[in-house]
Parts: sequence; C-alpha cells; structure tokens
Amino acid sequence: MYDAEDTVFLLPGPVKMHPRVLRAMSAPALNHRGPEFKEILTELRELVQYLFGTRGDVAILSGSGTAGLESAVSGLLRRQDKVLNLVNGKFSERFNEFCGVFATPTVLTFEWGRPVDPQRVAAALEEDPAIQAVTVCWNETSTGLTNPIAEVAKVVKEHDKLLLVDGITAVGGLEDHFDEWGIDALVVGSQKCIAAPAGLAAVALSKRAVESLHSETSFYTNLKSHVEGLAKQDTLPDLAAGFTGIEGALAAMGHEFERGAGVAEIARRA
Ligand SMILES: Cc1ncc(COP(=O)(O)O)c(C=O)c1O
Repeated sequence: MYDAEDTVFLLPGPVKMHPRVLRAMSAPALNHRGPEFKEILTELRELVQYLFGTRGDVAILSGSGTAGLESAVSGLLRRQDKVLNLVNGKFSERFNEFCGVFATPTVLTFEWGRPVDPQRVAAALEEDPAIQAVTVCWNETSTGLTNPIAEVAKVVKEHDKLLLVDGITAVGGLEDHFDEWGIDALVVGSQKCIAAPAGLAAVALSKRAVESLHSETSFYTNLKSHVEGLAKQDTLPDLAAGFTGIEGALAAMGHEFERGAGVAEIARRA
C-alpha cells in the first residue's frame, strides 16, 4: 500500500525531502512583504549564490524549472535574435521548442546519449557569425548524459556569444564553477538535486547577461525584476512557503558530489 511518509522515489526529482525542509515548510504563513521575510531573502540569496558558485546576480522564481528557463530566454533574447540550440536529448529538444517562441533558433543535433562536441559548436558559430547565443542542457536527464559544460562554455566564450544553460538536474549535484567557466545564464529547479519542494526555479546570471536583460516579452517571470527584487529583498508575490523550504534544503546540503557521481554511475550501468 502506498505510504506517503515511507516512499523512496527512483526519480531525478522530486526526491525525498530532509525533515528539516518539511519542518521549514510547515511554519505559519509569512507576510512576504514583511521584515522577517526580508531576512530570509537575504540569507537565501547568499545560499543560492554559493550553490551556483557565483558572486554575481541570482533570481528565484515561483514556477518549476521550466519557468526559470523561460525567464532566461524571454529576458535575454528577442524575436530576431539567432540562437544555436545544441540538441542531444528530450530536454534540449524542449529548450529548442520554446526558444522558437521568443527568438530565432537553429538546431545543432548530436546523437542522443552522446555528449555534444565543442569542435562542432565552434564550427557552427564560425559558419554563422550572426548567431548571438547558444543553449545547452548540462545534464540531459532523458538519456542520463552529462555534457562537457566547461569545454562548451570555453568555445562559446571564445566566440563572444551568450551561453544559456539548462542545469535543472545538474546544479547541486555536479560541481559548478559558474563565474570561472563564463556561463551567462544557468537555471536549476528546486525539486531535483537540492531536494526541496517542487515549484521554484533559480537562475544565475553573468554581469553581461544582467546588463542585457529586457522586459519586453515577460511580466510575472520577468527576470530583470526578479534579480533586482531579490537584491533589494523585495520580491514579487512569490511562493513564500517554498522559499522557506528551499532555504532549509540549501542549509542542509553538503558537498555530496562524489557520492552523487557514484550513484549516477550505478544507475547508468543498471
Ligand atoms: C534537464 C531538464 N530540463 C527541464 C526539466 C523540466 O523541469 P520542470 O519539470 O521543473 O519544469 C527537467 C525535468 O525533469 C529536466 O530534467
């Protein structure tokens, strides 16, 4: 018989939550404009920066990981902007689908289950200098494949393009050197490696990305207002209980990258 309190999910997320997270979420309702919530936001901003390996701007949005991806695409690109989507699985394919709503995408396909090849990315960027941005899915959950993010970032940076990364099942599970690698926008979902409740997304942005954010095609998921709001501890009416849950989860997290890599290896072999 199904027992919600004694269940092991064999999923990339949602996953079982630490009792500390459950306790944080059962706290009484908070005024999300009040001084107590501002304190939570200050701490949360620092924890999220630490998670991403950045000293730069971050945002937290109500909505699943997809809302975070959409906020990055709609805030950084415009309809006429050419974007190169690196596709080698279901989620990178989906990234390409919604880039089509906000920008002008071109697909560079790789065999599913095989990593993207940075040399082919360089060749594509040289062939079409009008491309302004590149997207990649760091950990392609559909095939269990981790793409070589540092190498892709190096090539994209050498060609002076923006790099937008779906890190929904990577951030928190894999070592992240956002500032060092030169990624421009990286998105994580709360229900995956962070082991928090579903329904929140966080985005890290480079300085260059923050400077080019616009507000022409988004309102509730407007990344510019979320970045500025979190820096001033003044958010949109976001999911307050989720914020306390994600704070509890981040505070409970250790550096479990090696353990995570071991478990991933066992799962891939199974
Ligand atoms: C790599 C990747 N991208 C995007 C998503 C969609 O995330 P969400 O369901 O949080 O919107 C998932 C969900 O599993 C994923 O694994």
